[in-house]
Amino acid sequence: MIFPVSQFTIPVLIVKSLSLRDIRCYASETLSFHPRFNLVYGENGQGKTNLLEAVYMLCRFKPLRGVSSSEIVRFGGRSSALLKGVIEKDSPALVTDVSVSFSDKGGKKVEVNGKRPANLAKKALDFEVVHFTPSEVELAKGSPSLRRRYFDSIICGLVPSHFQDILDFQRVLRQRNSFLASGRATSSGIALWDGQMAEIGARIVEKRLRLVKRINREIDTLYRGIGGADMGAKAQYETSFEISGGKRGELSNSIKKALENGFSRDTKARHTSTGPHRDRISLQIGGKDCALFASQGEARSVVLALKMAEIRLYQEIKKENPIFLLDDISSELDGKRRKFLFDMLLDYPGQVFVTSTSASDILYRGKHKKFRIQAGKVAE
Ligand SMILES: Nc1ncnc2c1ncn2[C@@H]1O[C@H](COP(=O)(O)OP(=O)(O)OP(=O)(O)O)[C@@H](O)[C@H]1O
Ligand SMILES: [Mg+2]
Repeated sequence: MIFPVSQFTIPVLIVKSLSLRDIRCYASETLSFHPRFNLVYGENGQGKTNLLEAVYMLCRFKPLRGVSSSEIVRFGGRSSALLKGVIEKDSPALVTDVSVSFSDKGGKKVEVNGKRPANLAKKALDFEVVHFTPSEVELAKGSPSLRRRYFDSIICGLVPSHFQDILDFQRVLRQRNSFLASGRATSSGIALWDGQMAEIGARIVEKRLRLVKRINREIDTLYRGIGGADMGAKAQYETSFEISGGKRGELSNSIKKALENGFSRDTKARHTSTGPHRDRISLQIGGKDCALFASQGEARSVVLALKMAEIRLYQEIKKENPIFLLDDISSELDGKRRKFLFDMLLDYPGQVFVTSTSASDILYRGKHKKFRIQAGKVAE
């Protein structure tokens, strides 16, 4: 079984209800959801993706990456968009009222049980969501920076101190780069930045390497299951500097040495050409880099396997079942792949939301609720 239910506890995280006001194409709508499986279907352009996006925003208090708050506000509606919902976590007695509003000027306001959380980013980790959308094929096909960011975001969900390390590393990198750009950089003067970059960078790379190893325990079987293929999949981490080992001390020494050795090159280039910000993470099928060789369907399957591996990680480490959002899954997965997916979702103890243009493409055999969406309204 891919998603084993814990012997002792079945941790639940359920969006029980959601009200949308002036969100994207929704003027005003209220929905109550099934605790396990929700199918959102309807023709193109009716509001299926917008509804999944709203579930995401209710749980994470922010739009998906690359979307600005002002885009969320409905054209021709009020000047702010409002989402309200009830989320149950761990037991039916533990429900949280969440309200998130976005202004067309770009601001937002979040209230949890009527109060503004002191630490919004930390509070958002209470309601873990894993999403799989058509554009995420880019995770396999796009630039390494996308994968670095994605792996870093998983680590932040598991080890909150990673977020501070990323911010600190970016700050030191900016300072080192402006020192190089000033044209006055000396090897003794830059040593201060090198030391800090090596120390913080080693913590970052150590966690990334550990994550890649854990992902690789899962992704091969998941990919073979989805693809029904002989070839397996894996993630690969390549440092932009030579390493003698994956322990923190070894990594720190390697980064420091690489920065020192690259000093004259960096002075000419006026930026830092080596370090964790230049490391490459690739996804591979049968040992070949997906960014170069995977077909669209293969790339989607490998990203889906990666997302499932991410869910397994939250189950193992945080003992949680994240909400799983799957947008437009029928578009690029063939019948065999879809069947595997729905068989697997039948075992998943967490809450799932799936969109499709056709309800008959959704081969889910368990209890569920269907929502037909038409022009920003639930038609049935
Ligand atoms: N801020 C906004 N205000 C009003 N309408 C919007 C806003 N943002 C997007 N829309 C519209 O919402 C409609 C529904 O979009 P959505 O992406 O949810 O459709 P969909 O049902 O997922 O379609 P598809 O099957 O093509 O993926 C689109 O026509 C889009 O232009
Ligand atoms: Mg859509």
